[in-house]
Amino acid sequence: MSLEQRIGEVQAAFDEAQRDCRGVSEVEGLRIRFLGRQGEVRELFSLLGALPAEQKKDAGLRLNELKKRFEDRLAELQERAGRPERQGPRVDATLPGIAPEPGRRHPLYRTWDDICRIFLKLGFDVEYGPEIEDEFHNFDALNIPRDHAARDAFDTFYIEGSLLLRSHTSPVQIRAMKARRPPIRIIAPGKVFRPDTPDAGHSPMFHQVEGLMVGEDVSFAHLKGVLDLFAKAMWGPRTGTRFRPSFFPFTEPSADVEVTCVICGAKGCPACKHSGWMEILGSGMVHPRVLENCGIDPERYTGFAFGMGIDRICMLRYRIPDIRLLFENHFSFLEQF
Ligand code: PHE
Repeated sequence: MSLEQRIGEVQAAFDEAQRDCRGVSEVEGLRIRFLGRQGEVRELFSLLGALPAEQKKDAGLRLNELKKRFEDRLAELQERAGRPERQGPRVDATLPGIAPEPGRRHPLYRTWDDICRIFLKLGFDVEYGPEIEDEFHNFDALNIPRDHAARDAFDTFYIEGSLLLRSHTSPVQIRAMKARRPPIRIIAPGKVFRPDTPDAGHSPMFHQVEGLMVGEDVSFAHLKGVLDLFAKAMWGPRTGTRFRPSFFPFTEPSADVEVTCVICGAKGCPACKHSGWMEILGSGMVHPRVLENCGIDPERYTGFAFGMGIDRICMLRYRIPDIRLLFENHFSFLEQF
């Protein structure tokens, strides 16, 4: 029998044998039979020696091709044999599906987004600062000296050395002013931390949005204009604002800003203690010393800053009676939004 015929036979035998080859050991048996050390392919190679020299090259090429074909097919079979059989009943595609419950946006982050959107429209950029801060950014650079009573107003979680959890978002003012030159127009939303005992109105972690605008000729009138626009965009065009003198070490002059009660529209209700007004934020003109601390010339530039609590605005908006509800993640609460 010629080598050519033997090749045909081996090939036919392989095609036949591989057809029902499923399990790992069957595939291994196939490999040994055809590609093993005493396998069929090896035997064919041993026949090469007896061929006339001029036929050897072609026959060799044919054999290598055959070997390659077997190897490829075996690799496929091995792959398939390694996969577990499909388990369980077949899928009945005619059954109605199980609709996935879509997630919902948390009420706090809806409020966060709405606040940011309003300031983005006014040309402010959104910036973020670290939640782990140091005394320099949280206090010193903001003109809150060590051992000064002003520091007590910002009860703080200390970590170690000069590291702490930021007690307000105002350190982002410092980072923004050090990182860029005026004109600066940013807001900075984020988490802040104070060691308060949790109750309906307090949580050791809550949220603020800081605002900062620095440039030539930025005045208190700009502060009033921006915050009045914000209040009207947030609570409707009939919302009024008023500014009352206040104190913050990093602003001079400083003002607390109140809006007409967002619950009763200034008619008077328990939420505004029948005054018609609600305090929503602290603000003021950036203290010249703070500008200086950031390398900005206070003779040339002025700025305003403000900071507001997102949690309280969210609670007013959705009539949420207890701040802890925002962070306990009970489904019965979250599903209402
Ligand atoms: N950082 C102040 C606070 O947490 C708020 C504030 C920000 C006041 C910016 C004035 C200017 O109470």
